[in-house]
Amino acid sequence: MKEIHVPSETGKSMFFLFFIIFLSCCNLSFSELSSNQTSTMIELSRFLNVSDWNLPGSERNPCLWKGVLCSRPDNGSVISLSLSRFDLTNSSFLPLVCQIQTLESLDVSSNSLSSVPDGFMTNCETLVGLKQLNFSMNQVSSFPRFRNFSKLEVLDFSYNRLSGNIGDYGFDGLVQLKSLNLNFNNLSGSVPTNLAKRVETLEVSYNSLSGSIPEGIEDYQELKLIDLSNNQLNGSIPSSLGKLSKLESLLLSNNHLSGSIPESLPNIQTLRRFAANRNRFTGEIPSKITRHLVSLDLSYNSLTGLIPSELLSQANLVSVDLSFNQLDGWIPQSISPSLVRLRLGSNKLTGSLPSASFKSLRNLTYLEMDNNSLIGTIPSELASCSNLTLLNLATNQFTGILSHAIGNLSTTLQVIKLQQNKLTGEIPDDIRQLSNLLILNISRNSLSGSIPPSISQLANLSNMNLQGNDLSGAIPDKIRDLNSLIELQLGENKLSGRIPVMPPKLQISLNLSYNLFGGPIPTTLSQLERLEVLDLSNNKFSGEIPDFLTGLISLTQLILSNNQLTGKVPSFIRNVSISVSGNPGITEDDEVLIQRMPSQKSKLIVVVKYVAIGVCSLVAVIITVIVLKLSRRFKGVNNMQVDHDEEGSTVLPEVIRGKLLTSNASHKSNINFTKAVEAVAHPEHALFQTIFWSYYRVVMPSGSSYLIKKLNTRDRLFQQASSVQLELELEMLGKLHHANVMVPLAYVLYSEGCLLFYDYAHTRTLYDVLHNNPSDVVDWTSRYSIAVGIAQGICYLHGSKSSGRDPILLPDLSSKKIMLKSLTEPLVGDIELFKVIDHSKSNSSLSAVAGTIGYIPPEYAYTMRVTMAGNVYSFGVILLELLTGRPAVCEGRELAKWVQSHPSQPEQLNSILDIRVSKTSTVATKQMLRALSVALACINISPGARPKMKNVLRMLTRL
Ligand SMILES: *[C@@H]1O[C@H](CO)[C@@H](O)[C@H](O)[C@H]1NC(C)=O
Ligand SMILES: *[C@@H]1O[C@H](CO)[C@@H](O)[C@H](O)[C@H]1NC(C)=O
Ligand SMILES: *[C@@H]1O[C@H](CO)[C@@H](O)[C@H](O)[C@H]1NC(C)=O
Ligand SMILES: *[C@@H]1O[C@H](CO)[C@@H](O)[C@H](O)[C@H]1NC(C)=O
Repeated sequence: MKEIHVPSETGKSMFFLFFIIFLSCCNLSFSELSSNQTSTMIELSRFLNVSDWNLPGSERNPCLWKGVLCSRPDNGSVISLSLSRFDLTNSSFLPLVCQIQTLESLDVSSNSLSSVPDGFMTNCETLVGLKQLNFSMNQVSSFPRFRNFSKLEVLDFSYNRLSGNIGDYGFDGLVQLKSLNLNFNNLSGSVPTNLAKRVETLEVSYNSLSGSIPEGIEDYQELKLIDLSNNQLNGSIPSSLGKLSKLESLLLSNNHLSGSIPESLPNIQTLRRFAANRNRFTGEIPSKITRHLVSLDLSYNSLTGLIPSELLSQANLVSVDLSFNQLDGWIPQSISPSLVRLRLGSNKLTGSLPSASFKSLRNLTYLEMDNNSLIGTIPSELASCSNLTLLNLATNQFTGILSHAIGNLSTTLQVIKLQQNKLTGEIPDDIRQLSNLLILNISRNSLSGSIPPSISQLANLSNMNLQGNDLSGAIPDKIRDLNSLIELQLGENKLSGRIPVMPPKLQISLNLSYNLFGGPIPTTLSQLERLEVLDLSNNKFSGEIPDFLTGLISLTQLILSNNQLTGKVPSFIRNVSISVSGNPGITEDDEVLIQRMPSQKSKLIVVVKYVAIGVCSLVAVIITVIVLKLSRRFKGVNNMQVDHDEEGSTVLPEVIRGKLLTSNASHKSNINFTKAVEAVAHPEHALFQTIFWSYYRVVMPSGSSYLIKKLNTRDRLFQQASSVQLELELEMLGKLHHANVMVPLAYVLYSEGCLLFYDYAHTRTLYDVLHNNPSDVVDWTSRYSIAVGIAQGICYLHGSKSSGRDPILLPDLSSKKIMLKSLTEPLVGDIELFKVIDHSKSNSSLSAVAGTIGYIPPEYAYTMRVTMAGNVYSFGVILLELLTGRPAVCEGRELAKWVQSHPSQPEQLNSILDIRVSKTSTVATKQMLRALSVALACINISPGARPKMKNVLRMLTRL
């Protein structure tokens, strides 16, 4: 039933023959490396055991080895050696490298070296030609002393584990040094001033440097790039910096710098990029600041006064970000046509938009002026911005008719945010022309008329928010054509009539609350198998609550309050929070959220029911469809073309590759890959499902149980093409080891997807323990160790600056992703998600992967990127769950917003805490209040103001 197309044997051997001929030609056409260097290289190859180097016959010419570069044209000597990503763990080979007298460049980046041997420092300092040394992305913890190395120009120790005071580091021998990169280490002390005066680039970002920027920096007249961002520098920028006449980039982001921006900076004629965002700068912006700049970022400071009138008009300006300051006055009239990105949001700007200047902004791509006090109409000249992708004018006082505002906007637009203004009129039919639109938010205006059917032509739309207007009439039937829509907010309007079939992929929310809908709850809602929140409250729905709602497998929240429903609330086998208050005909205690525990009995009843109505056959059809779909998705695996035969749904899929990741031998004898693939062929046996995974318990022939996660590849965001890449990533994850991280033990790639294996012991989630067990209150001590454990796990995943790997981010961090080994030992789960998502695609529909509502940081809406700061936010929400005992979304409101809306006096905050826990002791209350302030810091609306995870951990452990 399966055909595998691989090159035929003859084809392969022909190719091989040509390859050999090609190699020998190369050998003939160049002269040889000196025997001295050849023997050094061969010795090195024995040391390193690189498979590419040890091919039979290759010893004849090391110049052809991967990573080796020889002098041209004679190939007489090795001049450059790149051993990047060679899996090196032992640095004892390094002194040998120094025997290559002609070496000019050595790159050992991206390995796991933990030291630089003395032998290297003494042997290599005599290499007269050595100009470049790259040790970045290793685990070196001790900076070697450079006594001589008098020709070295470029030194890169970024992404290592260097610590201690940078002032104690010896740079004295590096008299020719031009470039020093120590980014992403753990250095303390102040900005070094003991470098060679000819230094051109100085990079020490992401360390813990403190103190102020030294006045003496003006002695480094050759400096072109200074990157001091992400440290703890304080004081003000010395105005002598303005004397650095060759400076091109000055990056000071994310420090504690204060004072005003020096007037001398615009004097630097070469300065193109200036970033001083996320500091504590005050005062006014110097009038000529952008005179030579291409990019200016002063966001998240406390700058005041007007935006200087010529700031935006400079000819080369491409990007300006002044958002989150306290700037007032009008937006300058003259704007440079070169601008690509302009962000002025969250200031105190007034007046109307400089309409005339929009006419020429052909390159403008991102325009954000939200959260100001701008007035007047949205200028029709915006139509000339033919490259506009994001338009955010939300939360201002704009007036006028919506159709005039968006009638002619560029079809390149992907995000439109005009919510919270005073726009009137109807939603124009023309909106269909915005065919690239992903996010449309025009909520909380005064729009009237009905929703135009043409809106259904926005094929890429993922989020639509029309809430809080005066829209009337029926929802157009064609709305079901919105095949990418995952969120539909239509609440607080005057919509009425029949509810049409809804878009099939709705996930985040379907909100029809506060409208004029009536009649029975439509059965077509039963098709929304991904829907998490359904809000039909405050309408006139009548009849019984239909049973099919229990079959919505992704539902977490069902809000039916204030309708005219009757009868009983059906039994949900999964945990769904249900709100039915204000329905006089409902027989059940209302008011409270009804939390349902899975019980064997109700499961049985439901199963019987299902059988009775013959759903079995339906399930079989669905499985067949899914199987066929998946097989198509994964056909790229190992270049095999897997053709399923038509009635092949009973034939078991073939294991392409199963691999043990753990070194624990007991798993090796227990895990049976074929057995696992067999077991997950029955989706109805899943313990539970999330949007990305199905979870199974599989008992192996040996009797031991494993928790198996099966990737639900129904989303196009998953990496489909590169199984090799996926395997590499999984193997990397398998190497992780931390008591609070749930690391896969093994994986299987098979024709229908991918399975991951875990210890079965951990199947209770934090969510279950906190919110599904009202009688069994977890005490503060346990909650505290859970919080600390999760923080430790996330810290580990984010990696210290020097863990030598990229940080592992958690796109979907929530209390449902925290598994509990015991009441004090949490495990951070779902760490694979970031690796299996196809990031090239996640750009356009990140909202589909940005996790669970309630935990999604606000900035994801516009940055569309999963970040560490975003993870900190989600952790903050989990901490709030532990402190308040409330779920992340509670009564239709996000917990984070609810907490933020409380006044910050102690007695008010006290009332937020889970009283069942806080009342037990005053010590507990005190600690909880301190933990609450940590949580509040984590959910800070501005990502830069949130503490890093390691600081969160530090704060928590000091409670
Ligand atoms: C070969 O290398 C040794 C030491 O490694 C050195 O003493 C000798 O002079 C070299 N010979 C040539 C021809 O470079
Ligand atoms: C070199 O690597 C091969 C496999 O890549 C391994 O079999 C062999 O034992 C290694 N040799 C040494 C000396 O480490
Ligand atoms: C707009 O962008 C294009 C392409 O990057 C560039 O060539 C052009 O010079 C820009 N226009 C202006 C006015 O800067
Ligand atoms: C913007 O759009 C115009 C066409 O209107 C195009 O010529 C120009 O290159 C675009 N600029 C960028 C930066 O893409």
